[in-house]
Amino acid sequence: MKRVFSGIKPTGDLHLGNYLGALKNWIPLQEEYECIYSIVDLHAMTMQYEPKELKENVFKIACNYLACGLNPDKSILMIQSQCPKHAELTWILNCLTPVSWLERVPTFKEKSLQMADNINMGLMDYPVLMTADIILYKAEFVPVGEDQLPHLELAREILRRFNARFGEVFPEIKDIIRKGSRVKGLDGSAKMGKSLDNCIYLHETPEEIWKKLSRAVTDPARIKRTDPGDPDKCNVYSFHQLFSDEQTQVEIADGCRSASIGCIDCKKILAKNMADELEPIRTKYNEFIQKPDFVYDVLTEGNKKANIIASNTMMEVYENIGINYRS
Ligand code: TRP
Repeated sequence: MKRVFSGIKPTGDLHLGNYLGALKNWIPLQEEYECIYSIVDLHAMTMQYEPKELKENVFKIACNYLACGLNPDKSILMIQSQCPKHAELTWILNCLTPVSWLERVPTFKEKSLQMADNINMGLMDYPVLMTADIILYKAEFVPVGEDQLPHLELAREILRRFNARFGEVFPEIKDIIRKGSRVKGLDGSAKMGKSLDNCIYLHETPEEIWKKLSRAVTDPARIKRTDPGDPDKCNVYSFHQLFSDEQTQVEIADGCRSASIGCIDCKKILAKNMADELEPIRTKYNEFIQKPDFVYDVLTEGNKKANIIASNTMMEVYENIGINYRS
């Protein structure tokens, strides 16, 4: 079976952006592929963090993984740091990766501006570690949001370099991106994220969802209730496309263009559909939070399986790069 690898950084609570860009797309893949879904704590260390919080965040993400429907009987759920081969392979790949390739990665440039007082080596090395994550398991499919494409391009370059230099160990990476993989925040301008306070968290109640949606930016040209709107320019409508059925989408779009429905009513329908989809996830999340033993057992099992696959890949790597010594 072909392998899928993906991961989320444990830097805080999961929001709709994580759900739509990653988690939601991961679920159906479990039927067709051998999936490895990781909590990438080593990546989280590239930014300032508190050890206690990191640990809590890893646990919360694991609960969210399970709540959203990642199934430990089908997929491997693991913590990146608990398979040390990720870091080991990163070193080997580091020695093949020109610094100039990393300097021009868009996220590195952005982050260096945002955190000018902490441009650490890890930040620059982020895409190399991400490459190691994927190729350690010889994964060919990587479901990620659009913003990760430059990283995947780089991963391809790095693995080609390895294969050209040391022999064909790693398969090509094909990417998988799904509809709705990139969503804007409730401000309608920036990508949804924690830092901008423009997101809806997965753990929020229907009331909290409504409170946030009621203030969300719509078509900026629609000022009065009687102004006709353009659904294609409305960020709230883009959420309808992800949470409402086709029939509702058509009705909302027509109603917006003819001003027969106002933004508030449109948002109310969205809030209901969103809450309907998220409510079961929230309920299950709260259950898993109460069962840390179960959740950690799942992760321990996943870590074990991951380590076995990773060790096999690394044997090949050692052999090819010339560090296979007699034991
Ligand atoms: N960089 C990814 C993100 O921020 C997370 C990630 C780390 C990842 N390693 C990965 C995603 C490997 C896919 C495959 O979303």
